[in-house]
Amino acid sequence: VKKIITETKEYFISNIQKTDDKYGLLEHVPEVVKWVTKIREYYPKVNLDVVLLGAWLHDISHYLVKDGEDHAVKSEEMARVFLSGKTDKDIVDMVCHCVRSHRCKDIMPETLEAKVLACADSASHMSGIIYMDMLSHGHRVVTVDEKLERDYRDISIFPEVKALLTPIYKLWKNMLVEYQKLDLS
Ligand SMILES: [Fe+2]
Ligand SMILES: [Fe+2]
Repeated sequence: VKKIITETKEYFISNIQKTDDKYGLLEHVPEVVKWVTKIREYYPKVNLDVVLLGAWLHDISHYLVKDGEDHAVKSEEMARVFLSGKTDKDIVDMVCHCVRSHRCKDIMPETLEAKVLACADSASHMSGIIYMDMLSHGHRVVTVDEKLERDYRDISIFPEVKALLTPIYKLWKNMLVEYQKLDLS
């Protein structure tokens, strides 16, 4: 399985390198992988291989979807095609569920592995610069605040992660209040 994880990581990197990577996925996904490893310290029973495969594949179609399409749906399709024949069908199905539900939108994470990926994805936003990045690209404060709130909801899946990140959540929340006062728009 180690070999498949390496191949999947290379598949992700080579796909994204073909684009201008304007959302910084080449930094985002390794950050998600760090969080997966960290969350697993609290939940040693989690199938780490499944979550790592899901992490490398969850945003693979980000730059390929058209307006109105959901990258969680297309990434799941790509994950299934890429993994089929490389490993057991059960593993493929588990990874596909992680990818499909990572946004906690229309399909919710049902398995421990999918919950870990959804939580790690949102946690990576809180330890990264996405909120500042969105503001600097002209997104409205209210839009960024909604994103922060969705991330806080999803990191709260695991109380340990919620406890770790609540101080940073409060700092981002304050940052948005102060940024609004600047009235730069
Ligand atoms: Fe995503
Ligand atoms: Fe992501």
